[in-house]
Amino acid sequence: METLIIKVDNLLDNEKSYQQAVDILNEGGVVAFPTETVYGLGALATDEQAVRKIFEAKGRPSDNPLIVHIGNREAVEQYAIQIPDDAYKLMEKFWPGPLTLVFHKRPGVIAQSVTPGFETVGLRMPDHPVALELLQTLDGPLAAPSANRSGKPSPTEAGHVLKDLHGRIPLILDGGETGVGVESTVLDMTVSPPAILRPGGVTKEMIESVIGPIHTESGVADDQAPRAPGMKYMHYAPESPLFVIAPDEAKIAEAVRLLHAEGKKVAVIGPDEFTIPEADWYFAVGPLHKPEAMASTLYRAIRQCDVTEADIILAAETEMSGVGAAVMNRLTKAADGKRFPL
Ligand code: TXA
Ligand code: MG
Repeated sequence: METLIIKVDNLLDNEKSYQQAVDILNEGGVVAFPTETVYGLGALATDEQAVRKIFEAKGRPSDNPLIVHIGNREAVEQYAIQIPDDAYKLMEKFWPGPLTLVFHKRPGVIAQSVTPGFETVGLRMPDHPVALELLQTLDGPLAAPSANRSGKPSPTEAGHVLKDLHGRIPLILDGGETGVGVESTVLDMTVSPPAILRPGGVTKEMIESVIGPIHTESGVADDQAPRAPGMKYMHYAPESPLFVIAPDEAKIAEAVRLLHAEGKKVAVIGPDEFTIPEADWYFAVGPLHKPEAMASTLYRAIRQCDVTEADIILAAETEMSGVGAAVMNRLTKAADGKRFPL
């Protein structure tokens, strides 16, 4: 299969591109498209066969449920039941945006393979002009995980999707780089108080400012938090082992010297301000104390490390405030919990 990439930066001229994407989707195919978080790989959420193609293209375990994307708030009631008042407040405030809400599923609407074995469904309205235009032209729900091969970092530009899924999908809508850079927050609205199953672009603080105290499971070890099944798989794994390290220029330089003494080549992911001439490769991920900048560039940096000959990757941590919690959640996964020094 040839994978076609269509640029859709000028919305006015793109009717034909959207129609082409919608035709593929209506015929049961899959299409990659940008959202404000990461690129998604979409299929019509009501079409069982089409949804299976997502799992095939990604090599994704079939017991990991997909998020359903919708183009307007009103559509929530078509796919979910027992929607609590707090959910309406959150949708009002954060949709469109990087917040996935998990509800009890309305029976018989969404294809079984979207939420295998689950009585719930995760819904989100993405805040990206291309995603919204696609959803509105399609006039239906799009089941869409991140458009990477399973186990790779989520794609934040069309080239990442092509690298992972070339020849496996027919079309990528290229809307340039995504903004937030880490995936949406997943919030379980079927429990009281609601619980964060995956931290993301909408922070705990932002949610609590609207509905009061909530739970967070993000600090819990993966296998103890089985309710967001995706969290139990090894995610975002770079090709070489990655270690989290304190954001201290001198300490990182020292670590690189130690590793060099062992004959290892080292790639470093760190803030713009650091100069570490010892490092064999240095990938800057924005200013210190700016977790938002690190969120939007982390996955690209990890992919850049993958095309080096580094034996080891050292990644400077960021603070836990705001979107930093999501960044550290992803970084800890990429490191499989490892820190330097051992
Ligand atoms: O920002 C995002 O959320 C991106 C863009 C494309 O929208 N999508 C994304 O999808 O990250 P995916 O499939 O890579 O991650 C979805 C996460 C998984 O951890 C999955 O287990 C969880 O959400 N999830 C989905 N539906 C769920 C449900 N009904 N109950 C619990 N967890 C659910
Ligand atoms: Mg993913």
